[in-house]
Amino acid sequence: MSEARPPAKVNLTLEVVGRRDDGYHGLRSIFLRVGLSDRLTMAPGTGVADRLTVTGLPGAPTEGNLVLKALDALRRHAGANLSPLDVTLDKQIPAAAGLGGGSSDAASALKLAQGLWGVRLEPDAEVEIATSLGSDVPFFYIDMPAAHVSGRGEHLESLAGPYPGLGLLLVTPPIALSTRSAFGRFDERDQLSNVRPGAGVTERIYEEVFLDEPTTEEMLTWAPQLRDANDLWDAAASLAPALPTLRAALERTTDVPWLMSGSGPTLFALYPSVEEASAAGQSLVRSRLPELESAVINAVDMIGPDPKWRHP
Ligand code: C5P
Repeated sequence: MSEARPPAKVNLTLEVVGRRDDGYHGLRSIFLRVGLSDRLTMAPGTGVADRLTVTGLPGAPTEGNLVLKALDALRRHAGANLSPLDVTLDKQIPAAAGLGGGSSDAASALKLAQGLWGVRLEPDAEVEIATSLGSDVPFFYIDMPAAHVSGRGEHLESLAGPYPGLGLLLVTPPIALSTRSAFGRFDERDQLSNVRPGAGVTERIYEEVFLDEPTTEEMLTWAPQLRDANDLWDAAASLAPALPTLRAALERTTDVPWLMSGSGPTLFALYPSVEEASAAGQSLVRSRLPELESAVINAVDMIGPDPKWRHP
């Protein structure tokens, strides 16, 4: 049996810079891999087809799961009759949350299956297959602690990291918000034509902070700018009005800026250590904010692979 711990990511920035002919959007983003992970196991199958069992947090599909799509994509590419696999996926990363969990599971599945099947993708095919599964999959497949991301998500420049001093508090409310619908609303509102508060922040933080070894203090100084550097925020907030209400409550209670990861609904804040992130999480729980009902709260660092503290 083979096992992997597919990690989550957050987007420190997410700028939409154009609409592409293939229907996707051109992006500029800084991704950070964080210490919250699913658990994926794979073994030679006992049935006639791949079998997937999903446990842990709710919300991840069994049928149509990206893990199964990854196996299919590898089979098609290899053009060979590769034997069925039995797969288990224990979800600890909230699903459809903007944390890249499904993409990370798919990237790990590609790697584990190559090992079990004894096939080896050529580098070009790796990126092509990873991208075909989802825009965030190449980041996880190439396995970087942090990256400057452009194109649809497939142009990656590895950044130094992890940053051991950084703590992050992640709050994932039970709000359904698909990436597709957030980009759709962004287009409906013609937001590419509007001035966006985060314009240029990705390049500025990349040049001023990430080209050298960034310190946690520097990242914290940038937090107010990063807060407004997710171009999908207005779209997500208009699709899910509970999200701006939650952010206002979090900012009132913690007195720090809250950023949105990906297309949401996960909101997160930066802290000078994972202990401080955990303490802030625990006092949030004690505050009994009605907006936090049924939210999953994780305090993480960039080392992982497990959250240092979780609620519930
Ligand atoms: O690539 P992924 O499957 O994660 O994307 C989900 C949806 O999000 C796409 O179908 C597309 O509508 C939108 N998207 C986009 N531009 C990107 C990434 C995603 O328009 N760069």
